Amino acid sequence: MHIKYTISVIFIVALVIIEKENSIISNVLLLSASLFTAAQHNVSTDLSSHQHVNHHLENWTQPIQQSASPASAAGGRKHILLLATTRTGSSFVGEFFNQQGSNMFYLFEPLWHVERMLTMETGRTNATVARPAYQDVLRQLFLCDFSLLESFIEPPPEDHVTTALFRRESSRSLCEDPVCTPFVGKVFERYHCGVRRCGPLNLTLASQSCLQKEHRAIKSIRLQQLKTLRPLAEDPRLDMKFIQLVRDPRAVLASRMVAFSSKYDVWKRWAVNGDLPVDENEVRKLKGNCDNIRMSAKIGLNQPVWLRGRYMLVRYEDIARFPMRKAAEMFEFIGIPFTANVEEWILKNTRASKEVSGVYSTQRNSSEQVEKWRFSIPFKLVQLVQKVCGPTMTLFGYKFAENKDMLTDKSVSLIEEKTFL
Ligand SMILES: *[C@@H]1O[C@H](CO)[C@@H](O)[C@H](O)[C@H]1NC(C)=O
Ligand SMILES: *[C@@H]1O[C@H](CO)[C@@H](O)[C@H](O)[C@H]1NC(C)=O
Ligand SMILES: *[C@@H]1O[C@H](CO)[C@@H](O)[C@H](O)[C@H]1NC(C)=O
Ligand SMILES: *[C@@H]1O[C@H](CO)[C@@H](O)[C@H](O)[C@H]1NC(C)=O
Ligand SMILES: *[C@@H]1O[C@H](CO)[C@@H](O)[C@H](O)[C@H]1NC(C)=O
Repeated sequence: MHIKYTISVIFIVALVIIEKENSIISNVLLLSASLFTAAQHNVSTDLSSHQHVNHHLENWTQPIQQSASPASAAGGRKHILLLATTRTGSSFVGEFFNQQGSNMFYLFEPLWHVERMLTMETGRTNATVARPAYQDVLRQLFLCDFSLLESFIEPPPEDHVTTALFRRESSRSLCEDPVCTPFVGKVFERYHCGVRRCGPLNLTLASQSCLQKEHRAIKSIRLQQLKTLRPLAEDPRLDMKFIQLVRDPRAVLASRMVAFSSKYDVWKRWAVNGDLPVDENEVRKLKGNCDNIRMSAKIGLNQPVWLRGRYMLVRYEDIARFPMRKAAEMFEFIGIPFTANVEEWILKNTRASKEVSGVYSTQRNSSEQVEKWRFSIPFKLVQLVQKVCGPTMTLFGYKFAENKDMLTDKSVSLIEEKTFL
């Protein structure tokens, strides 16, 4: 326990220094820190694994060459980061990339592991600590290197093989040949492939498969601030394309109250007995979320030099109403083909029957879904969200409901038609 605690402190200190110092020194520190994390799971860290880490250190200490034209070293590869928050349809949009074809390597929420381990070590997620870790893990993953992510996976992978990669089944590339090794049975895998049974995930194979694919896409709901991703945008090895997915905060709240029922207990109780006092803490969290989303979008829409041509804002409501058109726009923005695979997938999944409505399901009747929240949330909660998230709603073109009748009047749309950029 003592060792674990000490290691945690070293880890946090290293991450904090990373925040302050330049990226080269900090990456070395972060790697040393993750070495400690890794070491706590296996005392007999042998020579070969040291060599392995030293090998990585070599690469990490290489200064990133500043080239006149960014992304010149990416060789035509696109690196897509889908930024969202929960209940904004990011699983659905992520599938556009997952289904794109054999040229795309897609990862669903790999930062889940990072958040989980940092939360375990510090008791709660601390953005100051998490941010640099997220950034470095993302950078490595876009370069097909899983080593830093491995140090966050619990239980730690053995010989780069894991049974615990979060939502493996949501990445086609991880469930296809050659990454899908023969099923061995007996091993418990929480996130096993759905389409077929595979052996435990060999991350060396995953990395090789990733390197062979032309483009890479990662979806995350854990990145709050676009500006913290600037180093990725400026890394010449990456040709970053950021897609920020936003949704009407009133609809998000309504959806979360259903999906994360116990977590949103306070809100539900308040919805039922309107006279209960509002929980200040919950309201502050809501405001924080809305403000973060707005600040990121403002930076993106202002098109600073480092983001020029790399940022696209997409509203959930537009995806839900015009999935084909919006998907085509996204692929055009990224500069990769909108394949027949994606088209077929969209057709199939926007005509899904009403019975299919699993919480994490991406199959839904999109045009119906988009207005549903107006009948499932009391007007007083709507008023509160409008008060707290007003500027965010205005920026994205979500109209305020003046009263109860307007809220439930289907002939009045609360979505302004708006194009961004
Ligand atoms: C510890 O590491 C050694 C050498 O890499 C390996 O053979 C062994 O299985 C590991 N043990 C555990 C518990 O991870
Ligand atoms: C280090 O970089 C070299 C050259 O770019 C590359 O061939 C090698 O695979 C990298 N090693 C690791 C462990 O990332
Ligand atoms: C996050 O961690 C840093 C370093 O340990 C600390 O200075 C800061 O106060 C923490 N922030 C929160 C919100 O706990
Ligand atoms: C994982 O795949 C690599 C590359 O094919 C292979 O060399 C290694 O032996 C595999 N690891 C295990 C434990 O099967
Ligand atoms: C989807 O919902 C809309 C609006 O209720 C309805 O008009 C349409 O027929 C539905 N489509 C399917 C395939 O269920």
